[in-house]
Amino acid sequence: MDPSTYKIIHLIGLMGLFSALGGLIGADVRKPATLRVYGIIHGISLLALLVSGVGMQTKLLYSMGSTWIIAKLVIWLLMGASIVILKRRLMPVGAAWALIIILGSAAAILAIQKPGHKTKEIKTAQAEVSFLAK
Ligand code: HEM
Repeated sequence: MDPSTYKIIHLIGLMGLFSALGGLIGADVRKPATLRVYGIIHGISLLALLVSGVGMQTKLLYSMGSTWIIAKLVIWLLMGASIVILKRRLMPVGAAWALIIILGSAAAILAIQKPGHKTKEIKTAQAEVSFLAK
């Protein structure tokens, strides 16, 4: 798939994730039925973010060892845990809301600034191409 298609999926996943988290923040946790739809959107969006993120990383020859990619994977895990925190109200809603915005902004800044960026070792790929060309 084209990297720009992956990016579009990434941005759609991002909108889905934050809309689901917003829903969970505003929902009445004593009515579990109302939480279900947000849980589903949260799960699908996280999956879309991961698949499209790894898709871009592979197609653009970015190394998985890049600091910014590892940091984004950690943020992704925290976003996954956020559903439990919000459903069980394990922290004040205002604090969770601020944390979600900080983590989301960090994920965006990391993708733009790319601290500790490394590209994939392309020697292997080049060797394969020259072998096939013979
Ligand atoms: C909560 C999770 C995440 C959020 C909020 C997020 C957000 C973003 C944003 C805002 C961009 C910039 C898009 C643009 O340039 O227009 C981006 C790009 C990107 N993200 Fe994520 N992301 C998340 C998770 C991930 C994960 C898990 C990966 C996996 C490895 C990943 C890999 C990438 C890559 C490779 C790019 C493209 C960078 C480039 O254009 O060179 N992201 N992400």
